[in-house]
Amino acid sequence: MQENLRHFMQRGYKSRGINSLDFVSYDDLAELQYAYRNKEEALVINRVDGFEYSFATNIVANRTVLANLLNTEVDDIHPKMLSYMQNLISPKLVASGPCQEMRLIGHDVDLANLPAIQFNEEDAGRYLTAGIVFAKDRRNPSFQNASVHRVQLQGKNQLGIRLEKGHLLALQQEAEKAGQDLEVAIAIGTHPAEMVASVSGLDYGVSEMALAGAIRGEALEMVHALTVDVDVPTTADIIIEGVIPAYKRELEGPFGDFQGYYVNPAQNHIVIVNAVTHTKDKPIFTSIRAGSHEDSLLLGLKNEVKIYEALMGKHKVTGVNLSPMVFNCIISIEKQNDAEPHEIIENAFSQYPWLKYCVVVDEDVDCYNMEDVWWAIGTRSNPSTGSSFIKSDASYNKDPYHIHSGKLGIDATVPCQYKHFFRRAKPKKSVY
Ligand SMILES: Cc1cc2nc3c(=O)[nH]c(=O)nc-3n(C[C@H](O)[C@H](O)[C@H](O)COP(=O)(O)O)c2cc1C
Repeated sequence: MQENLRHFMQRGYKSRGINSLDFVSYDDLAELQYAYRNKEEALVINRVDGFEYSFATNIVANRTVLANLLNTEVDDIHPKMLSYMQNLISPKLVASGPCQEMRLIGHDVDLANLPAIQFNEEDAGRYLTAGIVFAKDRRNPSFQNASVHRVQLQGKNQLGIRLEKGHLLALQQEAEKAGQDLEVAIAIGTHPAEMVASVSGLDYGVSEMALAGAIRGEALEMVHALTVDVDVPTTADIIIEGVIPAYKRELEGPFGDFQGYYVNPAQNHIVIVNAVTHTKDKPIFTSIRAGSHEDSLLLGLKNEVKIYEALMGKHKVTGVNLSPMVFNCIISIEKQNDAEPHEIIENAFSQYPWLKYCVVVDEDVDCYNMEDVWWAIGTRSNPSTGSSFIKSDASYNKDPYHIHSGKLGIDATVPCQYKHFFRRAKPKKSVY
C-alpha cells in the first residue's frame, strides 16, 4: 500500500509535534482550529462528537514538515520543487484502492455527516477547505486537472464551489459551452504530496498528480471513480463524486478567506453529489483554516518558486518567503554588488502582481524568521535611499476602495564594502 496521510504524519513529523486529542465537541472545533492557525503542530482529533470521521488540520503548517515531504532541507525547498517539476512521474491507474472500501451512493449520501465546520461568525455555512478537485479535459481526456477550492455544504447532496480564474473554471466553461455538466471528484484526507502538487500552479496540461508522483518518488496510484469519469488517488481517505451542472449558479458566501476578511456572497457554481466513498479505517477529514500558516504556506509556495526561478540564474538566492502573509515577501541573498537588491525587488514585483512589500536581506539573516527580518530592517535599511515606492493598484486588489494599494521594496542589506563592520555578534562556542 502506498504512503497515506497517516503514514506521512508518522514519518514527516520526526522533528515537530502532532497534538493528538481523543475527543472534541463539534461546537468547539471552529475556535480550536482558530487557536491553531499560527501553531506549528498538526492537530488530529480522533473523535468529533456526533461524527464518524476523525478531524485533522495543520498538516503542512511549517517548513520543516514541507522539507521532510520534499525530502530536502528548509533552505532547498524551492530548487527541489523545481527539480520535481522537471522530473514528473505520471500516475498509474489501478483497479481498486482503500479510498473506495466504503461506498455511499445516491440516496445514501448525506454530506451533513462530514465534520465540516462553519469557520467564522458570518460565514454562510459549513465549508470543506482541504478538498482536491479533480476533473478531466473533455477534449483531451488523458489530461486531468487537480486544484483546491473552497466548497460550501448546501444540502444533503449539494455543494457550492468557488472557481476563480484557473484551470477548473476553464474546464467547466468548455463543458458548459458544449451544454455539458462537468464531472468532478473531490478528495479529502489526502497525502500532503497531492495537496502541495495541486496548488503548485503548473501550466495547463501538466498533471499535478505527476508532480505528486515526483515528490513521492514513485507513480501515484489512482483508481477510477465509481460514478464519474475521473481518477482519484487511492490513498485519499474520502472521495466525493459529482457534477458541476452547466448554467447553474447559486448564492455562495460570505466566507472569511485567506486575506482575513469576508468575501461577499456571489452566484457561484454548485456540485450535485452522486456518491461518497471512504476508507474502512476511520477516515480522516482534513480542514485548512483560511489565512492560517498552513494556508499561507500552501498558497505562497507557487509564487515563491516562481520568484526563485526568475532570480536564480542572476543572483545567489538563499531563501524566498511569502509567509505568514502572502502579499509580503522576504528574499535572502549572498549579495555580489549593491545594485542587486533593487533589481531583485523589481523582478519579484513583476513575477507576482499581488506582492505589496518586498524586503531583501543578507544571507546571514533567516528570511523565515520575522524577528530576524525586523532586526535586519531596523539595522540595515535606510528608508530615504534604500527603499523604492511604486504607486500601483495591483497589490491587494480586493480592496474595493483602492486605499490600501501601492508597493514598497526595502533593501535591508549591508553595503558590500562594510560587510565586515556589520558582522553579527555570535555566541562564544562551547568547549567540550
Ligand atoms: C486552502 C486553499 C483554498 C483555496 N481555495 C480556492 C478557491 O476557493 N477558489 C480558487 O479558485 N482557488 C482556490 N485556491 C487556489 C487554487 O487551488 C490554486 O491556485 C491552484 O493552483 C489552482 O489550480 P490550477 O492551476 O489547476 O488552476 C485555494 C488554495 C488553497 C491552498
